[in-house]
Amino acid sequence: MQITSFEQYEQDYKKSVENPEQFWGEVAQNFQWRKPWFKVLSWNFQDPEIKWFEGAKLNITENCLDRHLATNGDKPAIIWEPNNPEEESVTLTYKMLHERVCRFANVLKRNGAKKGDRICIYMPMVPELAIAVLACARIGAVHSVIFGGFSAKSIADRINDSQCKLVITADGAHRGSKQIPLKDVIDDALIGCPTVEKCIVLTHVRTPVSMLKGRDVWWEDEVKHVNDICEAEEMDAEDMLFILYTSGSTGKPKGVVHTCGGYMVYAGYTFSNVFNYQPGEVYFCTADIGWITGHSYIVYGPLSQGATSVLFEGIPTYPSPSRFWDIVEKHQVNTLYTAPTAIRSLMSFGEEPLHGKNLSSIRVLGSVGEPINEEAWHWFDEKIGHGKAPIVDTWWQTETGGIMISPIASVTQTKPSFATLPLPGVQPILVDENGNEIEGNGVSGNLCIKFPWPGMLRTTYGDHERCKQTYFSTYENLYFTGDGCLRDEDGYYRITGRVDDVLNVSGHRIGTAEVENAINMHAGVVESAVVGYPHDVKGQGIFAFVIYPEMHGEAELSKKDILQTVTRVIGAIAKPDKILFVSGLPKTRSGKIMRRILRKIAEGETTNLGDTSTLLDPAVVEEIIEAAKQM
Ligand code: WT7
Repeated sequence: MQITSFEQYEQDYKKSVENPEQFWGEVAQNFQWRKPWFKVLSWNFQDPEIKWFEGAKLNITENCLDRHLATNGDKPAIIWEPNNPEEESVTLTYKMLHERVCRFANVLKRNGAKKGDRICIYMPMVPELAIAVLACARIGAVHSVIFGGFSAKSIADRINDSQCKLVITADGAHRGSKQIPLKDVIDDALIGCPTVEKCIVLTHVRTPVSMLKGRDVWWEDEVKHVNDICEAEEMDAEDMLFILYTSGSTGKPKGVVHTCGGYMVYAGYTFSNVFNYQPGEVYFCTADIGWITGHSYIVYGPLSQGATSVLFEGIPTYPSPSRFWDIVEKHQVNTLYTAPTAIRSLMSFGEEPLHGKNLSSIRVLGSVGEPINEEAWHWFDEKIGHGKAPIVDTWWQTETGGIMISPIASVTQTKPSFATLPLPGVQPILVDENGNEIEGNGVSGNLCIKFPWPGMLRTTYGDHERCKQTYFSTYENLYFTGDGCLRDEDGYYRITGRVDDVLNVSGHRIGTAEVENAINMHAGVVESAVVGYPHDVKGQGIFAFVIYPEMHGEAELSKKDILQTVTRVIGAIAKPDKILFVSGLPKTRSGKIMRRILRKIAEGETTNLGDTSTLLDPAVVEEIIEAAKQM
């Protein structure tokens, strides 16, 4: 199933469009099924209802673990690199990982988990996180992993939305020089989570934690009570595999639902092809398993292909900005898949951190999460790939489950800052505001997908109508991505960024409405409006315009109070970079905030603000501009 030439890509692409069922049916033969499907695909985008590999039975962990045991049991599946380079790294072979997943799956059962139950995972980037994820899949429980940067309130909202029965966490996490008290945060969250019966706690940082009798148990104790034999639960191809919460243009994050069969095929197929993974190679994706990139390209994609996946607990700049390069050298990494924000941050340290580092093992480089600017692309290419490693700029989303538009390493001719061409099975289309197709090359528009692919979301948890409204109603019969996109003269795609009220801050997806809600929860705040602005390292920064009439004490303190509120309500990742106190916001006569104007002001524009004639009170704009100049 690996594409090795551009001609083959073109042939496969053609086939995938002309005969999608045959194409994906053949790809799916490369996986292990308990029972075959009777229909590859049935679908409509109205409801929407999408079914891939109908009737098929499988367990994804048999594909990620069991099937490799006979031939590759002693091959490293996961290489764990700790936050602190002075600590030992840990290698788990496929045999060891299989054994631990089975054992922990039995722990889950012992604590009452059954097929279909939702389980919240809030853990550091340690091997046990991958083990917890796979153990859920083993018994058919639905995992909902929450990134370690989210607050207690965010966790509680997510746990309640999907009525999780169990939580898996750790005492704490290391992040650079900081320690995050995960269990404390979970304890705060669980005060408001009546559905949670048990909480399994891994010892990691060895910080004291409270253990509630009857609810909290230690991971280390539990594994002693069970054996390591656990038959995989037989799952229907369309049974739920996991939920992953992501932000949109409304205040409430939605639980994107992925199912077993299609997701497995898509994650495995795209992993193998995009990175051109070769047996024996070491692959390093720097994402966190709390995001979709970690799900698809640290855990499921690589393991389904028998690959060796590096799992890194730390951050790129701790203890020094050489950290990534040391890991590459130490583990002889062949593929490095990271985010533009990390590249830009490392670039800012100059070349010193690269001195004496042997990066010759690198064969393929990858970028994900946000548009990569040309400067960062060239630096990555020259300084890290030494001009010899193709860069795959992979465009996709939590909702797409896997990579959609991307070069195929060593096959597709790359072009700086272009995601290039759709993968086989992906049918992109650009539309104008009214949903009319924009044909031809050298055009731009809103990016939609017109045909299903196996990795696509099936619903948003507990609210199918919301899934329909968000993704399938803007344009009839199309999946709307929320991204703007350019198709150049060569037919290459370049993603230009979100066209909705979603920000991309250091590759983290944050809804402006969510941040506004959080700011508005602060006692002194009357109203606020949040927009993004270009930020050198983060890609986008968060700019908040805040009405705070009766400020007691100094403005600086009030700003800090607001940041504290946002940290409490969402988490530190959503803290505004800039706060400007204003006495009013630019609104239309119907009361709608004109974000377009605020965006321009946030970008530093003071004169060309476009049409302001529909504003209720144009004077407010002058005042905001003056205030912005004082910042
Ligand atoms: C949004 C999805 C895909 C996993 C990580 C983010 C932006 C993602 C690229 C890229 C330009 C990109 C889009 C997309 N995005 N990859 N290669 N070039 N933009 O997943 O949190 O669901 O965010 O990230 O705007 O819609 P996510």
